[in-house]
Amino acid sequence: MEDSDAEDNVETPELPVEIIVYILSFLHAADRKEASLVCRSWYYASQDLRFQKNAVFCFPASASSLELVRSLSSKSRCSLVISQLDGFSISRSLLLEVGVCLGPKLESLALPGSSLTEASLLSLLPRLTSLRRLDLRGLDSLFMSGAFLSREEHRQQVRSALCSLEELDLSDLRYLSDLTFNRLTGCTPRLRRLSLSGCHIAFEFDPYRGCPVGAVQDSSALLSLRNLRRLLAEQKSTLVALDLSRTSITPESLRTIAQVPGLVLEELLLQGCKELSDYSVEVLVKHQPGLHTLDISGCTELTSRSVEAIARGLKSLTHLFLSRDWRITEKGLADLLSVSSLRTLDLSECLHINGTEIVKGLKASGTARARLEALNLKSCTYIQDLAVFSLTQLLADSLRELDLTSCLNVTDVSVRAVATYLQKLVVLRLAWCKEVTDWGLLGMVHTDECEPDEELGDKGPKFTRTFGNMGFFKPPRMPFEERPKLVTQTDLEQFQQQAGASLLALARLQELDLTGCAKLTDSSITQVVRFPDLRRLSLSMLPEISDASLATVAWRCRGLTSLALSHCPGVSDRGVAQAAQHLQRLQHLYLSGCDNITDRCLFVLVQHCRRLKTLDVSRCKNISPTTVDLLQSQLPFLESVHCRPVNGTDLPL
Ligand SMILES: *[C@@H]1O[C@H](CO)[C@@H](O)[C@H](O)[C@H]1NC(C)=O
Ligand SMILES: *[C@@H]1O[C@H](CO)[C@@H](O)[C@H](O)[C@H]1NC(C)=O
Ligand SMILES: *[C@@H]1O[C@H](CO)[C@@H](O)[C@H](O)[C@H]1NC(C)=O
Ligand SMILES: *[C@@H]1O[C@H](CO)[C@@H](O)[C@H](O)[C@H]1NC(C)=O
Repeated sequence: MEDSDAEDNVETPELPVEIIVYILSFLHAADRKEASLVCRSWYYASQDLRFQKNAVFCFPASASSLELVRSLSSKSRCSLVISQLDGFSISRSLLLEVGVCLGPKLESLALPGSSLTEASLLSLLPRLTSLRRLDLRGLDSLFMSGAFLSREEHRQQVRSALCSLEELDLSDLRYLSDLTFNRLTGCTPRLRRLSLSGCHIAFEFDPYRGCPVGAVQDSSALLSLRNLRRLLAEQKSTLVALDLSRTSITPESLRTIAQVPGLVLEELLLQGCKELSDYSVEVLVKHQPGLHTLDISGCTELTSRSVEAIARGLKSLTHLFLSRDWRITEKGLADLLSVSSLRTLDLSECLHINGTEIVKGLKASGTARARLEALNLKSCTYIQDLAVFSLTQLLADSLRELDLTSCLNVTDVSVRAVATYLQKLVVLRLAWCKEVTDWGLLGMVHTDECEPDEELGDKGPKFTRTFGNMGFFKPPRMPFEERPKLVTQTDLEQFQQQAGASLLALARLQELDLTGCAKLTDSSITQVVRFPDLRRLSLSMLPEISDASLATVAWRCRGLTSLALSHCPGVSDRGVAQAAQHLQRLQHLYLSGCDNITDRCLFVLVQHCRRLKTLDVSRCKNISPTTVDLLQSQLPFLESVHCRPVNGTDLPL
């Protein structure tokens, strides 16, 4: 799509809309959205039903959103996320309008950051006859009085509309009680997914009554385990996903839930449930062997015993999250990696992990092995090059996302291995891998002849004169044509002598995080950060990069929606001006602590980056608050501006 200006004046015959639809079907959703702005017929093509499946419209409640809601009534179905609703008349009429214009077409409704009254919601719910998903997260205003849906007449109306609701999100509701919970779920008899994360559920003891919760009757002050269990039993034929993250669920309560007769869970989220023990995981695994997704991140009491139980018991597991379970060691990981259905493994901040057993599990011959698509090893500081080198080869066919953030011992060798073997990678995070240098990104071997000339005070390494036309654009053939049986230290040493692929080989990258890789300079960034599909890029805390990096990155990665350049002193107004004209899709820009940018760069942003939602110019010495105010009045979508002055006092914005 780039550089089409020259063709503007050429007469082209009208293409049939089917052909345009067909062409658009090859584009990413974001590119298609862009293409729909080209002309009327492209716009119509972009409205084809096949592209509309997951169209979600997010907007804050305001007078202008009335118009938007009306314009959506031509759609056959849609999903809405409306924020900042309140009890005032604009919100009320907006909800009425949603009911009238979209009622039976609405598939999903979320109302984050709102405080609306029961009356406003009841004017809408009975009209939403096709609703599949309702998100009432944090809507305390609705539940505080305890009177929500207390009238049978209202319950009947809501029940007849919501009888096929599949997903109900009741997270972070402080005032949910047995009574309100039962009234609401009584209207939704066929739930598939229920979220109660962050709710105050009384699992054992009712502090108000001084007896086990719900022992006598439904509570009007608390949601009790007994009552939750009753719902699970009632809706067991449909319910497959439950989120009880950030609750104080006890081992005994988890056992009660896991043992509800006939309940077959596929997804269970228990993030940050700090009271859970290995024993409770063993019981869970025994009674719910069909789990596909299990999130026990931040359950800090769990040890490798849980990992072993999961590996033994959950034979159809696809996604496992063990983040911050810092007692987990290497033990049991080899068995886990032989669960052949496993696709996502999150071991971030499991500080004892060094990868040895993961490699062993993936290499085990004879048995099936996990074909991991996402692996998170953030802050696993014991991970070294040999582990990464082995993993890249073992996961070459499948891995799409790799997070090595803060793996401090990872060096250029690992980066070359990633670029050489993991060419299907979509997300790569290398933040704070401080040993990584230009050589790694360029896929080159650092030889002594090319040592940076420190006496001349050069920044960054010098490369040989032929650097510009070297073959590093194409990945060279690697010594391992077929997968080695066992990657040894010798293989690693051999690999260290070889030039590998440069980061350019990762042609499918959509996200790249190089934050804090402080040795990187323009030499590599200008050469390898060239990814047509890149959406999110962080180059924050790279003291050596200059405007040259910013300009080439913007020129080569025009699809960027998020760009972080915080604390890059080498970035100035000139770089921002060169970049901004190419970054018309930019929504989030982080320039915190960039001392060489001034108010001038803000004017450039107003001119070119009209879709900015987030701008962080905090701690920028040369940015004045008044110009930021002006910017806010001129950018239509700007939601969040950070502008804390150098001396640290917050400005009221
Ligand atoms: C990894 O950790 C295990 C024990 O936790 C240890 O036996 C092994 O030597 C370590 N391997 C490496 C390469 O550090
Ligand atoms: C890993 O890196 C840290 C910090 O750079 C260093 O102190 C430590 O010795 C390294 N560990 C290994 C096993 O190389
Ligand atoms: C950026 O600003 C610093 C002072 O904050 C100055 O020393 C440096 O020369 C400037 N760099 C560029 C590239 O303008
Ligand atoms: C902090 O900075 C603001 C704006 O630059 C200035 O108005 C204010 O006086 C400063 N406060 C202190 C304590 O230096």
